Amino acid sequence: MADTNSGKKVRVGIIGCGGISGSHLPNLEKFDDVELVAFCDVIVERAQKKADQYGGAVYDDAAKMLAGTKLDAVYILIPTYAHGAPERAAIAAGVPFLVEKPMGLYPDDLRKLAAEVKASGLVNAAGFMNRYRKSVNRVKSLLAGDPAILLDGAWIGGAPLMREGDYFSQNPIGQWWPVKEKSGGQFVEQVIHTVDLARYLAGEVSEVYAYAANGFNKKLPNLVPNYTNDDAMVVSFKFESGAIANIMAACSIGASGGVFLNVWAANHTARFSDWGHHLQLYRNGEPGVEEIRGDAEIPSPDSIFTLEDRAFIDAVKSGDPSGIKSTHADGVRTTLVTLAANESLVTGAPVKVQYE
Ligand SMILES: NC(=O)c1ccc[n+]([C@@H]2O[C@H](COP(=O)([O-])OP(=O)(O)OC[C@H]3O[C@@H](n4cnc5c(N)ncnc54)[C@H](O)[C@@H]3O)[C@@H](O)[C@H]2O)c1
Repeated sequence: MADTNSGKKVRVGIIGCGGISGSHLPNLEKFDDVELVAFCDVIVERAQKKADQYGGAVYDDAAKMLAGTKLDAVYILIPTYAHGAPERAAIAAGVPFLVEKPMGLYPDDLRKLAAEVKASGLVNAAGFMNRYRKSVNRVKSLLAGDPAILLDGAWIGGAPLMREGDYFSQNPIGQWWPVKEKSGGQFVEQVIHTVDLARYLAGEVSEVYAYAANGFNKKLPNLVPNYTNDDAMVVSFKFESGAIANIMAACSIGASGGVFLNVWAANHTARFSDWGHHLQLYRNGEPGVEEIRGDAEIPSPDSIFTLEDRAFIDAVKSGDPSGIKSTHADGVRTTLVTLAANESLVTGAPVKVQYE
């Protein structure tokens, strides 16, 4: 537990100073019980830039940071392929951590890592911020008495292109996101949010069966040259409850795309739309639609990342993780589902998800 009873601030270090750090740092800076004290990135200039902005020590390696600066918590904000060593360095130093999704790329190591995290007894969290949404939790409470039968969802986006304004080609994430061997592909890296919500709302996934579409993006003259992702995927799910789902990915659609998740139960239909997961809720036998807008964007005090950061920092201070809606272990299970979908693409057959 962080020694904060005496009014001392929670001393936070950041591992990985890229794009997503920009969704956490403005919150952490505003929390009056948090002090940002160290920044680490393998590209040390990125850590230096954050230290220039927020103050703090600069490192090029997570273990060196954990040895060199006294920390109460770390944020691990790194690409899919890079997980393992930073988490193990935090465990060795006895420092609680929040890890951005996905939890890793290699199923065997991920299962091992989950066991090491559990054995450490440290407070930990996974960056599935959608679990903090009012819309999502409204539906979760209703489904407790009326279980989900069928779900379908999708993240439909455009191809990463060499052109001004393209997020992937114009930012450091472009060095690894389009490369399936590094990111896991769009289904693992991005659609994992929808897979996690499906697990949160419908329970554990037992089996997945995936198809991919390929060869369309390769025809684009300005496709980023390192692209090896699938252009689209459709993945069918079986849940332990008996429910079924279909979740789709596309990073090849130039016109209208978007994010959605529909959940059907005997007496409720929930339609979530857009990144904010705005909700339209229908009830059997009742006229009208209940609507809940998705929570605010950063840097407002009730943004979804702020709620997630607050829950983690509160848990670090109290030692009580009950306010954390997604632990590392839970995040690992969601990640293993997405990696099983990739395995299904290779084997051409349904894959039972191996969690332990
Ligand atoms: N929750 C969300 O909605 C959300 C949104 C965007 C990204 N993410 C996740 O956050 C993670 C990072 O994404 P990003 O957009 O910041 O990528 P990024 O490429 O912009 O930043 C990652 C940074 O990590 C650094 N890095 C790599 N290996 C490292 C290591 N071993 N130690 C220290 N630094 C290391 C890189 O040099 C880079 O600066 C990804 O897993 C991504 O899926 C989550």
